[in-house]
Amino acid sequence: MLTYDTYQLKVQEFGFINNIYLIVDKTTKETFIVDPSWNYSAVFNFIDKLDVKINGVLLTHSHIDHVYMVDRLIKKFENIKVYMSDIECRYYKYSMNNLKRLQDGDIIKLGETDVTCILTPGHTKGSMCYLLQESLFTGDTIFSEGCGMCTSLGGDARDMYYSIQKIKQIVGPNVRIYAGHSYGGQQGETLMEVSKSNIYFQIDDIARFVAFRNREGQSKLYKFT
Ligand SMILES: [Fe+2]
Repeated sequence: MLTYDTYQLKVQEFGFINNIYLIVDKTTKETFIVDPSWNYSAVFNFIDKLDVKINGVLLTHSHIDHVYMVDRLIKKFENIKVYMSDIECRYYKYSMNNLKRLQDGDIIKLGETDVTCILTPGHTKGSMCYLLQESLFTGDTIFSEGCGMCTSLGGDARDMYYSIQKIKQIVGPNVRIYAGHSYGGQQGETLMEVSKSNIYFQIDDIARFVAFRNREGQSKLYKFT
């Protein structure tokens, strides 16, 4: 029996298309919002309709298209906590009131729901995935169709290789994957399904992985559909 509900909002601004997620503890209605990016009014209307209480913000990493709305959330919901990995905060100098810095393996309580923090560098220096009973929120670490680019500041394809191996080891096959973007696939596929279709799960050699991830001629990095 799941202790939480998950809601997905697909939002768009500045040429980006992002997924925002709400995790609502069924018993207490306490709620985390994952990677609040854009569309302030649509998001707040949705929260009002659900009639839930926002307790915190889970940030997978510090890129602008994942954190843009955090300031407005803090203004609207006083005392909410903002969670990000400690290494991500330090490396990119991300700082604000209410910030809670996370270590690999930390568990955050949301009512009767546990959120386990898994450090997964590669896309950024301190990207973090959030694991619940049956869900993994991955930001830009893995998508249904691939994995995040590893060429921006702090990114490293070798780190991404090890992060994917870590996900394979830690996360159960029936856990559903919820990414920050879509390149055409649906969110909520199981890890088993993603592993079969996602080439980055199938390359077992780190040198081949790095060469493929950083290959020339990748023209559709921002073609989110
Ligand atoms: Fe990103």
